[in-house]
Amino acid sequence: MSTLFDRIGLLYTGDPEREEIEDAAIVVEDGRVVWAGAAGADPGADERVDVGGRCVIPGFVDSHAHLVFAGDRTAEFTARMSGRPYTAGGIRTTVAATRAAGDALLAERTAALVAEMLAQGTTTVEIKSGYGLTVEDERRSLEIARRFTRETTYLGAHVVPPDAPSADDYVRTVTGEMLEACAPYARWVDVFCERGAFDADQTREILLAGTKAGLLPRIHANQLGNGPGARIAAEVGAASADHCTHLTDEDVSALSSAGVVATLLPGAEFSTRSPYPDARRLLDAGVTVALATDCNPGSSFTSSMPFCLALAVREMRMTPLEAVRAATYGGAMALRRDDVGTLRAGARGDLVILDAASYVHLAYRPGVPLVAQVWKEGRRLV
Ligand code: NIG
Ligand code: FE
Repeated sequence: MSTLFDRIGLLYTGDPEREEIEDAAIVVEDGRVVWAGAAGADPGADERVDVGGRCVIPGFVDSHAHLVFAGDRTAEFTARMSGRPYTAGGIRTTVAATRAAGDALLAERTAALVAEMLAQGTTTVEIKSGYGLTVEDERRSLEIARRFTRETTYLGAHVVPPDAPSADDYVRTVTGEMLEACAPYARWVDVFCERGAFDADQTREILLAGTKAGLLPRIHANQLGNGPGARIAAEVGAASADHCTHLTDEDVSALSSAGVVATLLPGAEFSTRSPYPDARRLLDAGVTVALATDCNPGSSFTSSMPFCLALAVREMRMTPLEAVRAATYGGAMALRRDDVGTLRAGARGDLVILDAASYVHLAYRPGVPLVAQVWKEGRRLV
């Protein structure tokens, strides 16, 4: 079965070789892109979709999200908006609610967030555990996450739970019994390396144990203040250092020389009313930048990649082209995937038709629902 998407006004391919094609067409066959080029030059297909001059982009790759949780933190948000600062401690509120919830409720809530994401153009999502923080609650969080994506991340090291006998004892569990229970459901291992969460030694130990269990490392780094996270990401060859809000020049060059993607999460700065990361400094140093939502009930309760893209352009001085690239190709790089985030031949047929002539409108018309159609592996889902 093949589909020709015809009369595309502007095709953003995400492919660094040929990023934008005006008056384009694309053919998807058996779930994969088989051809992209000038309208009228296509090889033909079984069915034709008339895009009517609108813009087509790859489905967004949201490479950082915490979707398996119960409860909400409305009161904490309200308090913050009246001046209370954000701290890692709020995570414990969600941990209590998550532990009290049954599997069915957790799965239902996760499904609802994944559906919200899809409706806003996200066709690939990474989902972390991290609100269970017992062996069984982390295991079931990942088992649920796995139902929705293969990009699942073991984040037993989110914070030390209040019922742990000591931080050392908890790190032993995270690197031992909990890791063993979680590894079969996870592709990645992550640590919240931050004051109030895990320090440099604990971070290294947890990532090393995860790597030995066959998981790939990524880090919550330098979100709330300067710290060792970004440099550890470079040292261990992490795919991505996420947040990167507070970086020294040494951190930036470490990320750049190690080829670590910097995943920026402007929804978190928006929702915690914090200064945004300096995207320009990273881009100018040659670091690959990804944009993701960080969707979670505490620091960034948005499922919207278009919203994050608008923030990146307005608040982080990324150009609209850099922002759409970061939300597609950049996200794929952060997940070490070459089959998503681009629309070159061989990639998955995951694409979004925008109700706009250009992807620039995602930032130029913030808050407007511009996602007209979403196709995943050649099938229309929205
Ligand atoms: O990425 N930084 C750590 N974890 C989340 C926040 C979690 C929470 O506040 O519940 C984040 O921002
Ligand atoms: Fe996060």
